[in-house]
Amino acid sequence: MAKAAVADYQFYNHSPEADDFYREIVAGFSRNPRSIPPKYFYDEEGSRLFEAICQQPEYYPTRTEVALLEKHAGDIKSHVGHGSYLIEPGSGSCEKVRLLLDTLRPAVYAPLDISCEHLKSAAAAVAADYPWLDVHAVCTDITNNVSLDFIPEQETPVMFYPGSSIGNFDPADAVEFLTCLAQLTGPGGGLLIGVDRKKDHKTLHQAYNDASGVTAAFNLNLLQRANRELDADFNLDAFEHFAAYNSVAGRIEMHLISTRRQTVNIDGHKFDFNAGDSIHTENSYKYTDEEFQTLAQQAGFSLCDVWTDSDSLFSLYFLRVSQG
Ligand code: AVJ
Repeated sequence: MAKAAVADYQFYNHSPEADDFYREIVAGFSRNPRSIPPKYFYDEEGSRLFEAICQQPEYYPTRTEVALLEKHAGDIKSHVGHGSYLIEPGSGSCEKVRLLLDTLRPAVYAPLDISCEHLKSAAAAVAADYPWLDVHAVCTDITNNVSLDFIPEQETPVMFYPGSSIGNFDPADAVEFLTCLAQLTGPGGGLLIGVDRKKDHKTLHQAYNDASGVTAAFNLNLLQRANRELDADFNLDAFEHFAAYNSVAGRIEMHLISTRRQTVNIDGHKFDFNAGDSIHTENSYKYTDEEFQTLAQQAGFSLCDVWTDSDSLFSLYFLRVSQG
């Protein structure tokens, strides 16, 4: 009897506690300036909106990185070798790894993401489309002590961290995060990482202020999420999306700005806002080649290769954890 091919993958649930969002939003609102960690963007709706951002004409990073991955898959393969353990922190839709799988032919692909349902469907789709691949999906907050028990001791995995997600960390925290990745792979482990470069401010500004308002919807979804999941009463008409390049810090900053004097309730906690008061929702650091190489070195990586598009918008680095 013919057996239907069932898309199979391992799933590990290390998902964050449900009340993390509540605790972090209340803590972030009790400080000055007020902030919410960007990882909370990615509920189901936020993950969907992020994918829509990636398709906006103004948002150059995705298409630029995709072209680099397609063009240099063979070069990447020369560093990765055959039958590797490929780990992707913050895998989202798992679309970019598909550009590499046929060339790299890893033994194992492990997507890690905070958005559990989104992760499950993305992992199932990869498992269905690449039947020869062993898929281990881990629902986890990658900024919080990841453990990957399914990787055998003797393996030196390769990390895939595309999209310039590293830009969300302040530089010192980025070094700390990359150091954690180096510890996960161990000496000799690889890291293929995408990094958005410093460039003219107009290009940067437009990428975070798309004409269709998708980035604005993505930003405002944080407040909608708080209304949905927490007992919060944000008035979405009384906050505005704001994104601008801070050239001193070298980063795009996203904020939600209160358009009037108002009081917001979050499960019994009251927070007053004046017109113009901000909630800082995201930083997206941009790096020169030199700045990023210094940062990678501080985290214990050595440079193997770097690929950049002809307009110098985005770079893809292959790094290796320095031995000893
Ligand atoms: C996923 C953090 C790389 O900073 O460009 C896109 C997120 N925010 N538009 C970025 C984002 C607004 C994105 N990263």
